[in-house]
Amino acid sequence: MKPKKQFFTTPIYYVNAKPHLGHAYTSIAADVATRFKQIDDYETFFLTGTDEHGDKIVQAAQKQETTPKEYADNISQLFQDLLPVLNVKNNHFIRTTDPGHIQVVKDVLSKIYDSGDIYFSSYEGLYCFGCERFYQERELIDGKCQDHGVEPTVIKESNYFFKMSKYQKWLINHIKANPDFIQPEQYKNEILSFLKDPLEDLCISRPKSRLTWGITLPFDEDYVTYVWFDALVNYISALGYPDGKLFKKFWPSTRHFVAKDIIKPHGIYWPIMLKAADIEIYNGLNVHGFWNVKGSKMSKSIGNVTDPIQVTNKYGIDPFRYFLMREMVFGLDANFTEETIVSRINSDLANDLGNLFSRVLSMNSRYFTGEVKGSDAKIEKQKNLSLASDAKKAVDEFKQAMSLCEFHKGVGAIWQFISIMNKYIDTTAPWTLAKDDANVLILGTVLYNLIEGLRVVSCLIYPIMPQTSLKMQETLCMEKREKGFYSLEETFPWGQIKKGTIIEKPDILFPRIDTNKIKPKSHKKKLSASNFDKSVAPGNPVK
Ligand code: MSP
Repeated sequence: MKPKKQFFTTPIYYVNAKPHLGHAYTSIAADVATRFKQIDDYETFFLTGTDEHGDKIVQAAQKQETTPKEYADNISQLFQDLLPVLNVKNNHFIRTTDPGHIQVVKDVLSKIYDSGDIYFSSYEGLYCFGCERFYQERELIDGKCQDHGVEPTVIKESNYFFKMSKYQKWLINHIKANPDFIQPEQYKNEILSFLKDPLEDLCISRPKSRLTWGITLPFDEDYVTYVWFDALVNYISALGYPDGKLFKKFWPSTRHFVAKDIIKPHGIYWPIMLKAADIEIYNGLNVHGFWNVKGSKMSKSIGNVTDPIQVTNKYGIDPFRYFLMREMVFGLDANFTEETIVSRINSDLANDLGNLFSRVLSMNSRYFTGEVKGSDAKIEKQKNLSLASDAKKAVDEFKQAMSLCEFHKGVGAIWQFISIMNKYIDTTAPWTLAKDDANVLILGTVLYNLIEGLRVVSCLIYPIMPQTSLKMQETLCMEKREKGFYSLEETFPWGQIKKGTIIEKPDILFPRIDTNKIKPKSHKKKLSASNFDKSVAPGNPVK
């Protein structure tokens, strides 16, 4: 069988500001998707990086009285330093100021220029300096650019243009013929609806009289290239296009992660650039929504720009990763507040999973001094005590959802199984069984099924919470895998924990957060009623 390959990318982030929650989300989502592919036996490559040319960077550098390069070096370093904090394992970090990247941008431009798809013309248009692009009148709202809320400036200049219009029909057909090219569906529809109007040719140069911080056009020394023409090429330059081994190996399996703000460059400019340069079209685009903070768009003036390092320091990396994947429906916007993260930690992590883990192992300690008794096949069948088919269902649903980047559903499938295990404890009532020696085989079978269930959970949570997965596996005395995780295939057959294994009582997986310490009094009642009380049940102490 052909080995399975997967190349994932994040956008390369602008270096005009420090990384925030939104950047952290895309990087974590792409990391979770990569780790999921790894447990599904794919060979993966994961790329992220920084976008360092353009007006915005020059302006930001000027404000700090430094050079664009020095400024870019500093902020790019912040993005690089963030990755280990988030436990994001990228294979490469690309910067658009890398000499290798610059050369590939020039090569691609030359190729398209030579084929006749780039032409020189004078143009008068409405230019937004914030977006670094020309606008059509119909794209403006009340005459203003939506992103910056300013009226664009009329600019007249001679520039180079890319014949995007020539490829409009081809692109529409390509999108329709490849249903998962742009996912989720609503963003595919957005792009197709945009393509109903005639596509304008794209201005791809900026005169050096106006901007020097960019890549010089290979066919005209007086111009630099438009930032998007530079930035998008990172995805192939990082793989060593055209002859690099990585390019040949991974490019056909590319899926780009982006948020909804940049679907146009990715869903329209990029495939057309590839087509014009005679390069295979990437496999697909995974588009997510925006994180708002306390109900508003993150902005410096509101003061709600959330620093992912602070959140991680406060709540821990695995809880943060879990929260982001669980709370956002991929494709839709989500809201970040301290109350919601704390509620998720206390109910889903501390109560549902953490208490299940410590309850089961504490009971095994108490009743069998930590020794795994194993399941009695006859009793298991007679009393219908097996959890194997519930575990199998969880694995199948998890796999299906994660393959479609429906992370919240993937997590939901695991937690559904956790909830089944918690109910199983309530109905089998091991503390009652333990009162009578005649029940010892039943008790052993019950605890064995629960321990096996925890083993499966430890394998499935790996992409989302790698550290917790490892911690659970160490506690359960599972053999350490050299690759660092158990593959989905390896989660079955059921019954891998050996009879006779001695399992110690575990440390607490997720400490409960004292809600009184983190939130204003007025919110207290609402939170405890809706989120905490109902989930206390599985956390009852062992009777
Ligand atoms: N440099 C371009 C991308 C070039 S890719 C060839 C750029 N940079 S950016 O710094 O503005 O990053 C935009 C991306 O950051 C979004 O597409 C998304 O991945 C992430 N996010 C920024 N703010 C976000 C939210 N509030 N919520 C979720 N993700 C967001 O555009």
